[in-house]
This record gives sequence, C-alpha cells and structure tokens, in this order.
Amino acid sequence: MTTTALEHELILARRMSRLGTETAFEVLNKARALERQGRSIIHLEIGEPDFDTPANIVDAAVDALRAGWTHYGPSAGLPELRIAIAEHVSRSRGVEVSPDEVVVVPGGKPILFFAMLALIDKGDEVIYPDPGFPIYESMVNYVGGTAVPIALREERGFAMDVDELAALITDRTRVIILNSPQNPTGGILPRADIERTAQAIGKRNLFVLSDEIYCRLQFEGEPFSIMSIPGMKERTILLDGFSKTYAMTGWRMGYGVMRADLAAHITRLMTNSNSCTASFTQIAGIEALRGDQGAVDLMRAEFERRSRTFVERLNRIRGFSALMPKGAFYVFANTMKTGWESKRLADALLEEAGVAALSGTSFGKHGQGFIRFSVANSMENLMEALDRIDAWSQKRL
Ligand SMILES: Cc1ncc(COP(=O)(O)O)c(C=O)c1O
Repeated sequence: MTTTALEHELILARRMSRLGTETAFEVLNKARALERQGRSIIHLEIGEPDFDTPANIVDAAVDALRAGWTHYGPSAGLPELRIAIAEHVSRSRGVEVSPDEVVVVPGGKPILFFAMLALIDKGDEVIYPDPGFPIYESMVNYVGGTAVPIALREERGFAMDVDELAALITDRTRVIILNSPQNPTGGILPRADIERTAQAIGKRNLFVLSDEIYCRLQFEGEPFSIMSIPGMKERTILLDGFSKTYAMTGWRMGYGVMRADLAAHITRLMTNSNSCTASFTQIAGIEALRGDQGAVDLMRAEFERRSRTFVERLNRIRGFSALMPKGAFYVFANTMKTGWESKRLADALLEEAGVAALSGTSFGKHGQGFIRFSVANSMENLMEALDRIDAWSQKRL
C-alpha cells in the first residue's frame, strides 16, 4: 500500500462502512509478515482443503481449454453443467430439480451476495447462525437489512435451539440462513431440528438459504436438506459448490438451486456483475460431478482422522477443550478455562507460539471463549502445532 498522502480525499459510498470481512485473510497476512521476519508459523487459520484438485478434474479443464472453451457462456451457466447439477441435487436431496432452477456462479459466496441483493430491502430481517460464516452478517448489513443472530451453543453440539429460532421469526423476517455442516463449529443440524424449523416457518412467505457447501464432508449419517421437506422446496435457496468438496477453492465455481422465477433474477445479477462463470472450469465441473468420487471419500476420511487426533490431544492441554466435529475441517475449541479473551489468545498463539488460528469472535459475538483451528494441514504440522500450544499453555497459564 502506498504511504504518500494523496491530494484528494477518498470519499466512499456510505454502504461501504457496513461491509465486513473475513478475518482469515487478515490473519494469513499477519502470519506471512512474521514468516518474512524468519519466524516459523503453522497455518491453521485458512478454510480450504490442503489437497490438490483431483487429477481427472484438472485434466478435464486442460482439455476444455485446448478445445476452445475460452469464450463467454450463458450467465446462468452452461446448459450441460446445469443439467449435471440438477441431476446431482435431485439424487442427493431426493427432490425433483430442473436445470432452469440452477444458477452457476463463481464460488458459493456469490449465491449469498446475490440472494441478499435480490431479496432484502432496508429493515428486512435475516436470521443467521452465530458463530457462523462472517460473510452472512456482512452481506445482510451491506444491503441494509437487519441481521438477527441465532446463537449456536456448545452444550447443544452447536445445533440451534429451534424454540429460540421460532421466537426470532417476525413479520419482517425474509430469510433464514441455515448452515450444516457448519463453519466454524464443525457441528451439524440434526434432521429433527431441520424438520422442526420447517414447522416453525409454517406457511410464512420467507426463504431459507441453506448453505450446504460442506455437505459432502459430513463424517457420520446422511446430510439432510430442508429442501427435501414437502412444501419447502419453493422457499429454499440451496447454496452448494465445488470449492470444499473437490478442493477447488481457487477455481471459483459454485451454484444455487432455487425456484425458476428467482433463478432468472439471480441470473440478471450475474449478467450485471460477472457475465458468466469461466467456461472451461464449468466443463471441469461436469467431470467433478459425474467422474470418480473416490477422492472426495478419501479427503473426508482424512479430515475426520485429523480432527479426531487433534481433538484427543487438544483435550489434554490445560485450558483447552473441544468437541469432535461432525463435519467440515474445523475444530472449534473452548478456551474459556484459559481466562483469556479469544482475540488476545489468538494473537498470542500466533506471536508467541507460532500457530495461526482464528478468534471465535471473528464469527460473531457468541464465538467469544472459542478459537477455530483448521485441520486442513498435514498430520505432522497439526502435531507440531499441538506441541507448541502445549508448551505455550504450560508457560503462560
Ligand atoms: C459456510 C461457508 N459457506 C460458503 C463459503 C464460500 O465458499 P466459496 O469459496 O465457494 O465461495 C464458505 C467458504 O469458506 C463457507 O465456509
């Protein structure tokens, strides 16, 4: 960043003051700065698989580039990919989905952004999980909505209390965001809670944005979508994608499934912003969905193994404890017994112990007393991180 003073003051639109961010990227920058000073840092802050994209998908993209898939495509996505997604979602969620209910976008995030832009007016309420993916609250605030947190508590395995949710629904509620398996807690929403949520919604004309980006990384049982409940499909926006499932974070490809009339408006937002998702990546997306799924199973098993080993050892370190996550690749550790405020603790772990992790408060106020460790790192590095945390705890607590 330049340090010279500019002649003209930067005057931003007021809405920019309401836009949040993702602390993971800030912590990563801070960790990299320490590394440039020669410090050794173990990176447990970033939420992306450490695996390479499976070779069959990479090959499909290379072939697509050579075959000339380098031009604009339809804003809603290539018809072939929308068909593959509709088939995949119909099979996995047990509801009939047609290609005109699918919009392909660059990552899961744009579905959230576009849904908020399309549905939320000033003062409309959006209920979202806290602790939760920080972009939920950021987007709601940005578009002028009212962000209404629903607490996720460790004593419930980070499942929400559906009675509490029911009490938060008002006539201004336009969207309820559900996320399972969850970032940052690794918790899931049990099927019974999702069914009770649908009952609490009843006949109200509101949308559920169901963020299922980690659904293929659920360790036990079958993931369950609110979209599968009779009567809920036309009020559900399913957010899913390729980033986490196929280790394709940098490719930028995700999708939303929603009623066709809403899909047309989300497509209009695509035309106005990105024009389309990169064409050759979409061809590779067809291979991802239809090709061998062995790599996904291997990654899921490895995340589970790492999570279990990490939790077992962390639970023996003074001041720290954690539940075994039920999915994704995060361990959300309870650090209340350290007596340290979470942000201060995360800073100390980075600066004094050389372990980069995120304060639970980066995910909302109910994250106070927690630290998120990503296990998307090698077992060797995870063990080294635990050694460092243990040594730090013995010295500082
Ligand atoms: C809960 C949740 N939803 C959505 C996303 C966005 O994924 P993408 O990288 O595909 O935009 C993430 C990424 O961290 C996430 O954790």
